[in-house]
Amino acid sequence: MRSRTSAPDLTGRTVLVTGANSGIGLATAADLAALGATVVMTARDVGKGEAARAEVVRRSGNDQVVLGNLDLASLASVRRFAAWFLDEFGELHVLVNNAGLITDERRETTDGFETMFGVNHLGHFLLTDLLRDRLVASAPSRVVVVTSVAHRWVPGGLDRGDLQSTRSFRGAKAYGRSKLANVLFARELARQLVGTGVTVNAVHPGSVNTHFGTDGDTGAMAWWITTFGRYVLRTPEQGARTSVLLASSEELDVAGTTGGYWSHGRRWQPSRAGRDAEAGRWLWAESARLVGLQS
Ligand SMILES: NC(=O)c1ccc[n+]([C@@H]2O[C@H](COP(=O)([O-])OP(=O)(O)OC[C@H]3O[C@@H](n4cnc5c(N)ncnc54)[C@H](OP(=O)(O)O)[C@@H]3O)[C@@H](O)[C@H]2O)c1
Repeated sequence: MRSRTSAPDLTGRTVLVTGANSGIGLATAADLAALGATVVMTARDVGKGEAARAEVVRRSGNDQVVLGNLDLASLASVRRFAAWFLDEFGELHVLVNNAGLITDERRETTDGFETMFGVNHLGHFLLTDLLRDRLVASAPSRVVVVTSVAHRWVPGGLDRGDLQSTRSFRGAKAYGRSKLANVLFARELARQLVGTGVTVNAVHPGSVNTHFGTDGDTGAMAWWITTFGRYVLRTPEQGARTSVLLASSEELDVAGTTGGYWSHGRRWQPSRAGRDAEAGRWLWAESARLVGLQS
């Protein structure tokens, strides 16, 4: 991790973090609040969200922390949340698409999408589109997309004939594809926003000891994480560092960069499938069709 000359001051900036009631999202929200930002944290469960909001205020000493209710497994919820946000907040300087999950059996969202593709990619795709004009109007602004090294687990890329994994499903593969979709989305959005003052970067947070994969979603992974995780994995605060860096650093090599894939405080090459610009454009058009937007 690079050393910072001085902590950036985010006073007057509005930051939105999805999945901020837990793990990396909570730590990201707390760090950005500590830098002075007004932080909007989203949670799908309001009770968990309220407890996390209180924790973020306590850790950061900043009470400009607001909870929004967002279930990324429901396009109606995404639309409701975006309408509420646009009504409540005149500006959006940083959007951190952090929420995500892994499941070991095939499930579907309210709208009938395979859950990991639907939550990790499609819900965030629609959310970002609905907030896009506000990000541009608030420029300089930033989008941080939390992906995973798991995007490398699918060297063959997206399965264009079976995006919803209806013909065959393996949890790790479907998760890897949803995280590859995050990388392709970030790069395509960065390309579309060149010249607007909005930067877009994808982040792998490292292997982090959170609730990820432990909520009855995955059998063997849950056992491994709860048994050994705390000895070998990064803390949520460590996992949040690269997201926070990209969301806040004023250093030129961070603030001026877009379309990157970052981890452990520096830029890396994503997989070959993650660099496939044609796949990015195809995924964009297909995602727009699936969520009911004009591409
Ligand atoms: N932990 C790791 O080692 C690791 C490694 C690589 C990438 N990542 C990525 O890091 C991100 C954060 O994960 P984490 O490790 O912090 O896990 P976590 O502690 O389980 O947090 C995930 C967050 O996403 C939220 N979420 C799940 N489904 C949602 C939905 N339908 N709508 C809205 N929010 C939803 C969760 O809400 P609930 O609490 O209500 O479930 C929670 O707030 C994810 O994108 C994950 O893919 C994690």
